[in-house]
Amino acid sequence: MVSEQTKGDDLHAEVWHEESVHIVNATPERRAEFATTRQCARRALQRLGFPPVAIPVLPSRAPAWPAGVVGSLTHGADLRAAAVATTATCRAVGIDVEPNDGLPNGTLEFIASPIEISRLRALGTLWPKVAWDRLLFSAKEAIFKAWFPMTGHWLNYHECTLTIESDTATFTGRLHLDSSIRSDFGIDVITGQWGISEGRLLTAVVVPTRADQ
Ligand SMILES: CC(C)(COP(=O)(O)OP(=O)(O)OC[C@H]1O[C@@H](n2cnc3c(N)ncnc32)[C@H](O)[C@@H]1OP(=O)(O)O)[C@@H](O)C(=O)NCCC(=O)NCCS
Repeated sequence: MVSEQTKGDDLHAEVWHEESVHIVNATPERRAEFATTRQCARRALQRLGFPPVAIPVLPSRAPAWPAGVVGSLTHGADLRAAAVATTATCRAVGIDVEPNDGLPNGTLEFIASPIEISRLRALGTLWPKVAWDRLLFSAKEAIFKAWFPMTGHWLNYHECTLTIESDTATFTGRLHLDSSIRSDFGIDVITGQWGISEGRLLTAVVVPTRADQ
């Protein structure tokens, strides 16, 4: 996987013609974030050996990547980032960035189960400087960004139980899915890595290509 990032917006970043339809009514802030994130994506594609191309928005709101590429975009906490990989090595990637700040009151109960919440409390006792509730949110967003383009299926927050490891900076999402979806995609578990830097939480998920493909 290759990733590229930019702190803040590059006001010279361009929106390509095929992309512009998606932001005709956008605020200048949204336009700058959209353009800067796609500039990161084009840099990452070039490093992967692909020419820079337009990255339009699909009806699902997922980015449309060129044939042979999977990828993910994120913009938040004053960071813009893109990650891409070839389909020869990866089925999907997902990335997310969030501020290292606690979630608004009432949000955690909406996105986490009682068992997940009790694990976060234990982590908070050991490492109080990490906003573990926000990290759980970010990891679930990264999992969704990998999951949806790969399967075309929505995934609710409660269809994934997350375990975060503090010592290895990894996380594991166990998916609770219908057996038909499970057999279609052959995925029960999605694993990822997390990090904390300059007041931001970063999460990344890579789903490797199936051994039988
Ligand atoms: C789509 C979603 C994950 C985006 O996350 P976010 O933290 O709000 O925003 P980010 O800035 O990190 O990412 C935005 C980018 O996500 C990407 N994205 C949007 N919809 C997507 C989808 N269906 N699949 C993959 N990527 C998607 C886009 O590239 C978007 O950037 P762009 O609009 O500039 O092209 C979020 O809005 C959402 O709908 N979440 C609910 C589903 C979910 O997370 N379930 C949890 C399962 S455990």
